[in-house]
Amino acid sequence: MLDKTKPGWWKSAVIYQIYPKSFQDSNGDGIGDLPGITSRLDYLQQLGIDAIWLSPIFASPQIDNGYDISDYQAIDPMFGTMHDMEVLLREANARGISILLDLVLNHSSDQHRWFLEAKKSRENPYHDYYIWRDGTPDTPPNEMCSVFGGTAWEWVPELGQYYFHQFAPQQPDLNWDNPAVREEIYRMIRWWMEKGVGGFRLDVIDQIAKEPDFGITVNGPHLHEYLRELNAQTFGGTPLVTVGEAWGADVEKAKLFSNPDGSELSMIFQFKHMVLDQQPGKEKWDMIPLDLLQLKEVLEHWQEGLYGCGWNSLFWNNHDLPRIVSRWGDDGFWRIRSAKMLATLLHGMQGTPYIYQGEEIGMTNIHLEIGQYRDIETLNMYRERKAKGVPEKEIMASIYARGRDNARTPMQWDASEHAGFTTATPWMPVNSNYPSINVAESLEDPDSVLQFYRTLIRLRKEYTVFAEGKFHLLFRDDPRLFVYERLSTTENLLVICNFSAEPAPFQLPEDWRGADLLISNVNRFPENMLQPYEAAILLQKNKGAL
Ligand code: GLC
Ligand code: CA
Repeated sequence: MLDKTKPGWWKSAVIYQIYPKSFQDSNGDGIGDLPGITSRLDYLQQLGIDAIWLSPIFASPQIDNGYDISDYQAIDPMFGTMHDMEVLLREANARGISILLDLVLNHSSDQHRWFLEAKKSRENPYHDYYIWRDGTPDTPPNEMCSVFGGTAWEWVPELGQYYFHQFAPQQPDLNWDNPAVREEIYRMIRWWMEKGVGGFRLDVIDQIAKEPDFGITVNGPHLHEYLRELNAQTFGGTPLVTVGEAWGADVEKAKLFSNPDGSELSMIFQFKHMVLDQQPGKEKWDMIPLDLLQLKEVLEHWQEGLYGCGWNSLFWNNHDLPRIVSRWGDDGFWRIRSAKMLATLLHGMQGTPYIYQGEEIGMTNIHLEIGQYRDIETLNMYRERKAKGVPEKEIMASIYARGRDNARTPMQWDASEHAGFTTATPWMPVNSNYPSINVAESLEDPDSVLQFYRTLIRLRKEYTVFAEGKFHLLFRDDPRLFVYERLSTTENLLVICNFSAEPAPFQLPEDWRGADLLISNVNRFPENMLQPYEAAILLQKNKGAL
């Protein structure tokens, strides 16, 4: 168990993300819930993770699956009660697992008491909690668009004003320039800290300081000022772990977010490596094949850029991204081996690794009928592109490849009906491959993806070089190999991956002869020609190259 009173403990930690709706149902209504999560804590403890990032469980109309919060201090009845939350916190903490709450502070739900008040009149004390502009019904203040499609301005006839929303109209943006808003938020965070949470994931945190009149959504001029204030007023100086979601961060900005002086957040969660297979400047639905050389370049840039002066999250998946084994691996013949290769590549780097529920058993994307999809972003895109005359087949192909529901199908626990997720009809269809891809089966099989993840997690705890080593890329121009060293003053690692379904020519560098094999997905010491999707990590002890 990690000593969580030690500052920076989260550098050696592995964090597991739970999407509560799809993790485990306990009361037979087809929807995952808090007691369901509590009932699976032993499984997570065995996996070896140190913290859970819990996607939102707060009261919410569920327009965006809980990312539209109507009461930050209440549990949505769908997920259980405050008592269930307290039990989860107690049981998790007893197992050395911290619970990180997912705070959506950029916007609230339009059903939040603040917004209901704000809409009543321009003079209402809550009016200025949101962002309003005068206008006429058919001329929004400007051209700004919502992330989920359409204009970012919603007209309220009673007030003769528009309000600003970067996401759905039911997710009005909070006005962080109003000190009263910030105070309310800090008070709420302190309240949760007293309940024993281990930290927070901060949703789209780089968008809080927007300046709609200037078209600014991310990285607004007051962003870091507000973050430092948030820190000082709440978790600053505590061992809590905080992670900021920031689509707009580059390395320089990431150094501010995750400044080792602890003035803002513990770490950043940025996506520069996850947008390489989309057409530059276009939407995520407009895909191009991944160029491995580019992936190496971007990951190297971040590994080197933050070394000693910031901290990154390592991830391939979350609730907004398609399944990695389907995306950049092979979810057919090489599913198991390619899932392990992708895990090796990620967990060998510097940063805090995240495992998204089901990733540890190699869960895959789904292909559903359009009527079975639930995600607001997917459904809006379908409607918009349909209206523009884009062929059905083309739209569905991008949903299969990119839709957020790929990650949101129920967790596959066993081969029983509905995969052991629920006894009722699940809120979202279970992937039909659950009879062969599930936790029960993975626990039995010593060669499963799950056992491989357990080993990777254990290794990170055993050797400090995983957290501390300096990254050094090798075979830079090789179109199939992704190979890098991690160098420290005491130990070195060599991470070797064949990122392709073809055998790949490879020569073990001279100075790595005789190293120890820590892990391999084909059970061999890699010296020459690598097999399809082969991956391994070698260790040199007492031979620090730094
Ligand atoms: C973040 C969340 C996503 C949500 C959006 C709006 O990107 O991860 O699921 O839709 O913010 O809150
Ligand atoms: Ca339930």
